[in-house]
Amino acid sequence: MSPPRSLTTHRLPKRLSSLPRIATLLTIMTVSVPAATLSPTHLRTEYRTNPLGVDSPRPRLYWQLQSTAPNTHQIAYEIRTAATLGDLSAAKSPRWKSGRVDSDRTTHIVYEGPALVSREVMHWQVRVWDNHGHVSAWSEPARWEMGLLEPSDWSADWIEAAIDEDTSISNPAQYFRRDFALTKPIASARLYITSHGVYEASLNGQRIGEDLLTPGWTSYAHRLPYQVHDVTALLVEGDNTLGALVGDGWWRGQMGWGGKRNNYGEKLALISQLEITHSDGSITRIGTDPTWRAATGAILFSDLYNGESYDARLFPDGWNRPGFNATSWTGAVVRDHPKSNLIATVNDPMRRIEEITPVNVTPLGDDRWLYDLGQNMVGWVRLKTTGQPGETFVLRHAEVLTPDGKLYTENLRSAQQTVHYTRHGDGDETYEPHFTLQGFRYVELTAPNPPVPDAITGIVIHSDLRPTGQFTSSDEMLNQLQSNIVWGMKGNFVDVPTDCPQRDERLGWTGDTQVFAPTASFLMDTAAFYTKWTGDVMADQETDGSIPNVIPKVLKEGGVAGWADAAVIVPWTVYLNFGDKRILETNYTCMRNWVEKVRRETGDNLIVNGSGHFGDWLFFKTSKWNVQDAITDKDLIATAYFARSTALLAKTARVLGHESDAATYAVLSRQIKTGFQREFITPGARLMSDTQTAYVLALGFDLVPPAQQAAVAAHLAANVRQYGHLTTGFLGTPLLTDTLSENGYTDLAFELLMRRDYPSWLYPVTRGATTIWERWDGIKEDGSFQNRGMNSFNHYAYGAVGDWIYRTIGGIQSTSPGYRTVRIAPVPGGGLTHANTSFESLHGRISSAWRIADGVFALEVTVPPNTTAAVVVPHPGDSAPITVDAGTGSTPTPTTHADGHTTYEVGSGTYRFRTPWHDA
Ligand code: BGC
Repeated sequence: MSPPRSLTTHRLPKRLSSLPRIATLLTIMTVSVPAATLSPTHLRTEYRTNPLGVDSPRPRLYWQLQSTAPNTHQIAYEIRTAATLGDLSAAKSPRWKSGRVDSDRTTHIVYEGPALVSREVMHWQVRVWDNHGHVSAWSEPARWEMGLLEPSDWSADWIEAAIDEDTSISNPAQYFRRDFALTKPIASARLYITSHGVYEASLNGQRIGEDLLTPGWTSYAHRLPYQVHDVTALLVEGDNTLGALVGDGWWRGQMGWGGKRNNYGEKLALISQLEITHSDGSITRIGTDPTWRAATGAILFSDLYNGESYDARLFPDGWNRPGFNATSWTGAVVRDHPKSNLIATVNDPMRRIEEITPVNVTPLGDDRWLYDLGQNMVGWVRLKTTGQPGETFVLRHAEVLTPDGKLYTENLRSAQQTVHYTRHGDGDETYEPHFTLQGFRYVELTAPNPPVPDAITGIVIHSDLRPTGQFTSSDEMLNQLQSNIVWGMKGNFVDVPTDCPQRDERLGWTGDTQVFAPTASFLMDTAAFYTKWTGDVMADQETDGSIPNVIPKVLKEGGVAGWADAAVIVPWTVYLNFGDKRILETNYTCMRNWVEKVRRETGDNLIVNGSGHFGDWLFFKTSKWNVQDAITDKDLIATAYFARSTALLAKTARVLGHESDAATYAVLSRQIKTGFQREFITPGARLMSDTQTAYVLALGFDLVPPAQQAAVAAHLAANVRQYGHLTTGFLGTPLLTDTLSENGYTDLAFELLMRRDYPSWLYPVTRGATTIWERWDGIKEDGSFQNRGMNSFNHYAYGAVGDWIYRTIGGIQSTSPGYRTVRIAPVPGGGLTHANTSFESLHGRISSAWRIADGVFALEVTVPPNTTAAVVVPHPGDSAPITVDAGTGSTPTPTTHADGHTTYEVGSGTYRFRTPWHDA
């Protein structure tokens, strides 16, 4: 049987040198393309779909190309915008037209029209031309709407409830309400709203939107996000009621160490501005003002760490609907709180993302039941009850059980994670908490009578980021590790990237997110999330350039190597993953000020004094007399990070066209490197601390002279072999597998990855972990727990190995910012027989799926439109034949062939490669 048209077998010449580069190839491959549909889809503005409340003066636009033709890229686009949908489709009165722009870019296209004003609505469409001579129709319309750009746009006042409170303890949540009548037909309505505290708003008894714990957590004094809702459908002509329920949240709840409360203020407050446009064009504004009424009610206390206490008998029934008698309620007091810090929300809010049904329930006596959800998760429990009025149900939450099957809560430190619910009546009642979060797999329910079958459901809550990355393989343990990494992300992306979700901490630890950011940015679309968080980094930067250890800042310490460097590394990671130059522009001064602060402190020798730093946090320690603790000198670590941040700053300056800074910091980074070599690398190519972390920092941050690299890497390999396992902490771990594989020790990297004994990534999996643990031995081999003072079972830092897994086993690597060009170079190993990896880039889905079976290595890759890929096919012998199936596309020819790898440069499409395989 002859092969189909596009299936070709290449018997490779011994060595192919410089074959045609991609541009030439793409031209060759444009012959006889079948008729194809071309359309721009997935239109987004500032990373979001049809956002309301944008305050960027020059929003950026995004789309993706859909095409049935292989090897498609855009050669031109045209954007048109209009104030109304009608004008847009009739091509009338455009606000801005880009005209045809010859460009292959589909991301970060800056709106260049007239200055945008508050509340302005912009509808937009795009059409595109491709390299095959196709022109698309105009896309489906998209839109964005501007927010309130000036403090003076807020006619509403900040109000507080006139309620006396002892603010040294937690207080009841506050209900705010206002009745109003509308006498004219309603065309559209927007609610602009935020609070001191966290709120839920409602109109005429209906909850507005699905966002939770808004306005989230920022450096409130500098930037307090407001939310915008289209509430047209909730309003009626006649009587209406607007309500808001406000709880303590991050504003004044317990947050930080030592039971600290009131980090931002002692009082809750609300600002809300409802703007109704009537059919006759007139506008009614209902703002918070002294006519509002306030009261406390069912939520006796709510606290992120401690839980919530809800007495349904105290629920003011009908409070957020017209006709409610609020005469017993107190008044509202207008406060002169700033409005200049009010900003639009740029990131996706927290929402209920999924539900988990318990896998097991065990009675613990007459009135207690233990539920196992089968997954360590973050969110809360939906509780269903039957019984009598006034009966109380108590939910306690924990991540693990003690060896005798009880909830283990000692690692929560002072966090109570306890919810009380008291019934209102005698029918079925369902309750979900409002203003708290728990980290748990196990729930202990104390109830006056046996629970109904579906009494407990886990509600998983996190920032609603678009999932982008997936990985599965032939090894179930590795798949569980991947699942644990994903769940570590879900549980700790709660408006802020936190260290942990369960104990009395849950803070935006900079070091943790710095090491996890590349993995996170593969798994989910983190662009807007980190844009928001780095805004807080800038806001909380100290005047001397130091970066607090936690952002938003609620602890006073800062300036620690590997933690403060998040100020440079996180924006750079967003740039690499999403091609976002604006985040570099916005953060540039902050990045530079951090590097300059370190430079001022180091003096002429450029060696950083790391005393007082965290060093390689949680590195391997042992009590065995003949095994060494893996202590890495803190000066070495801090100097390595100084070099790293300076080198990235130099690159950033170059990207931004700040040539003089680029030169200055390039020189500085070379000088630091020289200092590092002088101080920490011996003539025999050892590191002054003979630890894995020292070696990987030196090699991974490019601090080793080329002539010594092989020898340094050999010392690293020897160290790994000598221990037989990893010894790294938070800073060394993310670089370990990469450094090994980049220096020719991929087999060792796989050995570490697939190891099941402590210490290793899979050891927690053998102990039933469903999230990443803070410590390699959170539960020790004898079943006992690590130090209860610091033993989180949901800390994402060690999950940073995901980045290596996706880039190496999956082989998907971005070779230009934003995955505009990629390399797909899967590396089989570790006994795996298949691995499927995919990533939804801003341009579309990139995937790599390989399988070894019956002596054949088969690889299928998919490349989205507007993306080119170098596919590197491994094969055991230099002369192995490779079969290529390009579907309906033209068969690519290999461009290079070396060291058992053959490279094909391809455009968009799906390609299947097969080559004989035998284990090395
Ligand atoms: C946190 C960390 C953090 C560390 C810094 C811990 O308490 O949980 O993850 O990075 O402190 O020392």
